[in-house]
Amino acid sequence: MKEVKIETTLQVYLNIDELPEAIQDLMDKAVKARENAYAPYSKFNVGAAILLDNNEIIIGSNQENASYPSGLCAERTAIYYAGAKYPNAKILKMAVSASSQNKVTNKPIPPCGACRQSIAEYEIKQNQPIEIYFMGKEGKVVKSDSLANLLPLLFDNSVL
Ligand code: THU
Repeated sequence: MKEVKIETTLQVYLNIDELPEAIQDLMDKAVKARENAYAPYSKFNVGAAILLDNNEIIIGSNQENASYPSGLCAERTAIYYAGAKYPNAKILKMAVSASSQNKVTNKPIPPCGACRQSIAEYEIKQNQPIEIYFMGKEGKVVKSDSLANLLPLLFDNSVL
């Protein structure tokens, strides 16, 4: 038996103003996208904004359903829309912001596991890392240079 240690490195910015200007712009769009969330059940609004290598920005927000599992997270709404609209474009960066309607969400909210797996698919497809930035309603912003840093031991198509 041997033990395997998995480490990851993230960057933490104190607030949105500390981000490079282009990322602030992307995060602003994610914050704005939160307003389009349809979240009558969880009251938890999430917005995502994706920058493509053709300079297009795609946004998404969580869309819920009375049949709860039929709803979809903001990150997947955005990334599937990007894939559907610009199938040949590379995804450079994704910004995510989440805000509860009931309480202050001032800590960075990372993408859920299912969203990480979905984003990983595109990272593998394009053979180029996707930068991920995530925050709550306000406060710190966490950056990961690659989705892979957020999902060690990810499942990929090499085993199929
Ligand atoms: N949600 C997202 O949009 N992204 C995540 O990564 C985590 C959760 C949404 C799904 C649901 O509409 C609400 O937040 C509460 O789980």
